[in-house]
Amino acid sequence: MPIKERGLQLTKNNWYYLMQNLQHREKTTGRSQQHLIVLSEHELKRVSDFIGNEVGIQLPMAKRTLVESRLSKRLRILGFNDFKSYLDHTLETADGALEKLQLIDVLTTNKTSFYREPDHFDYLVNHAVPAIVKKNGNNRQEIKVWCAGCSTGEESYTLSIELNEMSTAHNKLPFNILATDISHSCLSKASRGVYTERQAESIPLELRKKYLLRSRNSDEALVQMGPQLRQRIKFKSLNLMDERFDAPKNMDVIFCRNVMIYFNNELREGLVKRFESHLVKGGYLFVGHSESLNGIKTTLEQVAPMVYQKK
Ligand SMILES: C[S@@+](CC[C@H](N)C(=O)[O-])C[C@H]1O[C@@H](n2cnc3c(N)ncnc32)[C@H](O)[C@@H]1O
Repeated sequence: MPIKERGLQLTKNNWYYLMQNLQHREKTTGRSQQHLIVLSEHELKRVSDFIGNEVGIQLPMAKRTLVESRLSKRLRILGFNDFKSYLDHTLETADGALEKLQLIDVLTTNKTSFYREPDHFDYLVNHAVPAIVKKNGNNRQEIKVWCAGCSTGEESYTLSIELNEMSTAHNKLPFNILATDISHSCLSKASRGVYTERQAESIPLELRKKYLLRSRNSDEALVQMGPQLRQRIKFKSLNLMDERFDAPKNMDVIFCRNVMIYFNNELREGLVKRFESHLVKGGYLFVGHSESLNGIKTTLEQVAPMVYQKK
């Protein structure tokens, strides 16, 4: 029905007002009209059942806006006009298999940084590794470290820097790092090992000079992790919800930080139990600073804040 017939006179002034109002809404909600596709409660449940079963991440109602905004981008890219058709395609058809990976990718939280929660690296260097070296005695075994939930790689490169430094101090201490994640886009960024100079700023200057390469492209301030760091790390896709991990059973150190925070207690307990079976006697599990194992049945003993040991 034409606007005029609805009794609405759009004068120059109220047209201006209407546009201003719309622009303000777009700015404050961060959305343009194109994004205003609503995710119903039922559709959120379909997403959260899939993500919960597949990856363990819990998506309660409080996350509706976040899920809506992250998935809207996928709808736009694929040309779907509503969530139902998108979810029918992704979850119910064989053609949706690849999109399932994208769905997991956009709904995982990948926040990370070099030297995040730095106390843990101090503990590793000053207590854990010396204890492992002492336990191994004359038998100079390779120290095996697993960085589980490595995101875009910053944590695994921090481990590589610290262990390279120790290796120099301890007359070529052998070590290797397995770094795993479920997100394919994160793993591909991690294996490239390229970051902005700004991201690398939390690495101490002398270590940046020693281990990082500057990008040849002078337009962008980029750095690449040097070969000494990269050759020690193997990046691999691994879902921590798998009952049987495809990972070696003789790990000396497992870092699994800021991953379990998204799981419920039952899943956490199951995961910690599986980590126990992948650690050697005397091995260490590091979890994030807000992820205490209090209330979880485990034989691991706490030896420092959020550091646990298999006795
Ligand atoms: C917030 S990041 C933490 C990164 C890093 N550990 C740190 O503390 O900086 C959490 C990572 O866990 C990964 N993740 C979540 N659920 C997972 C699962 N079931 N299996 C493997 N990785 C998972 C996510 O893809 C994400 O990259």
